Amino acid sequence: MAKIAIIGTGSVGATAAYALIASGLGEEIVLIDVNRAKAEGEALDLGDSTAFTTPVKVYAGDYPDASDADLIIFAAGANQRPGETRLDLTQRNVAVLKEVAGKLAVHWRGGILLMVTNPVDVLTYVASRLLDLDPQRILGTGTILDSARFRYALSQHTGVDARNLHAYVIGEHGDTAVLLWSRATVAGIPLEDFCRQRGLNPPDKEQIDRYVRQAAYRIIERKGATYYAIGLGIRRLCEAILKNQHSVLTVTGPVEGTYGYKGVAFSLPTIVGREGRLFSLELPLSPQEEEELKRSVDTLLKAQAEAGF
Ligand code: LAC
Repeated sequence: MAKIAIIGTGSVGATAAYALIASGLGEEIVLIDVNRAKAEGEALDLGDSTAFTTPVKVYAGDYPDASDADLIIFAAGANQRPGETRLDLTQRNVAVLKEVAGKLAVHWRGGILLMVTNPVDVLTYVASRLLDLDPQRILGTGTILDSARFRYALSQHTGVDARNLHAYVIGEHGDTAVLLWSRATVAGIPLEDFCRQRGLNPPDKEQIDRYVRQAAYRIIERKGATYYAIGLGIRRLCEAILKNQHSVLTVTGPVEGTYGYKGVAFSLPTIVGREGRLFSLELPLSPQEEEELKRSVDTLLKAQAEAGF
């Protein structure tokens, strides 16, 4: 019996609730939003769907209703407007997080906290400083979407199912994300060897890098926000947590020594299960990837400091 609370029922939070219900994850889902009518509307609409899915108790509530939630999804706050970077949202969304964290500290007995709101790395780190939770039980969606976009692009180039392509994006979920080209494999074969074996041209690294790095901007310019892919990414993360799957996902969280960094949150390939982030993987990096990761970490440390953490 899993109880999930979603704080923030904007496009991302509502889509996440829809994805969870469509996949039968969570027997009880409470929707919390400063706009109570919006939360109620989403709950009523989602409740009507349960005859097509699986029994779930979904309702609009408030922080006391989340007191015994096993998993809290934080999706409240502003999202990027066209031309805005994720880090441009820092001050606004740290303020929202501070207010919510104060209420969770009073009402929530604790569990897993899944951060979604951008800049997700900074907010995940701030949440770890504001809430008295075991750091491994605090994680953020981080670069799971970037890694998915990277794998999709490589799948398009190679013609191989993206699920058999292992490629990771680490660091900031943002403009300084690091695509680990040196570790990309197809069924365990290094990508460039695979392309050579199959008589394929090597992938256009600059084009794929742009595709991954600019994806959100491209979508926001056209439809105003991204929410389907991140909603399904949240569902995937909740599945790994609630079913204790020990899956490797590039989630963000406070780093404690990986690659020599600490006091900062950024994404790494991480084993995710019922207890949250079980442990992060330190993949060998090329010299260029090490340099890019340092730039990413420095960017996040600067944003954390500007937020007062
Ligand atoms: C994106 C948002 C979730 O990358 O940051 O689509």
